[in-house]
Amino acid sequence: MRSKPVPTDRYSGSPLSHAHPSEATRLRSLELMLDPLTVTALEGLRPRPDWRCLEIGGGGGSIARWLANRCPAGSVLATDVDVTLLDTGGAPNITTQVLDLLTDPLPEAAFDLIHGRAVLVHLGDRDAIIARLARALVPGGWLVVDDPCVFGLENCPYPAMRRLVQAFDDCTAQVMGSDIRSPRRLPLAFAAAGLVELGLIHTPLLVGGGGSTMEVALVSTLERIRPMMLAHGTITEREYAEGMALFADPSFLDTSFAHLAVWGRAPSR
Ligand SMILES: C[S@@+](CC[C@H](N)C(=O)[O-])C[C@H]1O[C@@H](n2cnc3c(N)ncnc32)[C@H](O)[C@@H]1O
Repeated sequence: MRSKPVPTDRYSGSPLSHAHPSEATRLRSLELMLDPLTVTALEGLRPRPDWRCLEIGGGGGSIARWLANRCPAGSVLATDVDVTLLDTGGAPNITTQVLDLLTDPLPEAAFDLIHGRAVLVHLGDRDAIIARLARALVPGGWLVVDDPCVFGLENCPYPAMRRLVQAFDDCTAQVMGSDIRSPRRLPLAFAAAGLVELGLIHTPLLVGGGGSTMEVALVSTLERIRPMMLAHGTITEREYAEGMALFADPSFLDTSFAHLAVWGRAPSR
């Protein structure tokens, strides 16, 4: 009998890895775009000052720092498969740790809050990871996952943008195991993991109209993925150029991506 293959980290070897010289800038643009939305979802849970928090795939660390400030009598374990860009800001209640969600064990019943943004969307085996994260919560603890997801691509009014986003989706799925349609299934995965009191906020994001923070993050991500899309034949040079040219068109306005924040709670005993 063949054993199940061990999932491996394909993100760290990808063009989106921390090794790229512009990754700190790209992470900062993600933070500028998404932090207000993430904070709205987290504030809705009314964090207590003494909560023990786990940040997964913490990137540049902005949400770990926010949690440390919001829970001054608690703690934040800020983790990532690569912690080299994770800035704790010197907060005394943040500890950093390398943690690969695909392979590393998690403690059981240890956290009041677990949060991860734009991480699970890049990993295969999401449902199994969510089940493990749910088991790492204390009774009554919260899991919050927020991810960018594709929004109504089928009726996108710009064929060139539809092609570009589709090519990005196909390429990152093939090479990295990412799935920008997967966040839609988060509520189902949360329920299957036994979480209760589910809720979500879904926010379409505006691109175009003169350089929104969404646009800065999207353009930088597409530029980084470009060689991979061309190499894997998911787009031609000409189609890529047509899609990217839209960002220079002052009349371009679209909502091809949205931000989905989902939360759920471990049942109280
Ligand atoms: C798009 S960045 C998002 C960073 C941050 N959460 C944010 O939203 O600002 C994805 C992050 O997930 C991390 N990551 C990728 N694969 C991972 C894995 N297998 N386990 C843990 N973290 C991972 C990356 O290193 C990166 O920091």
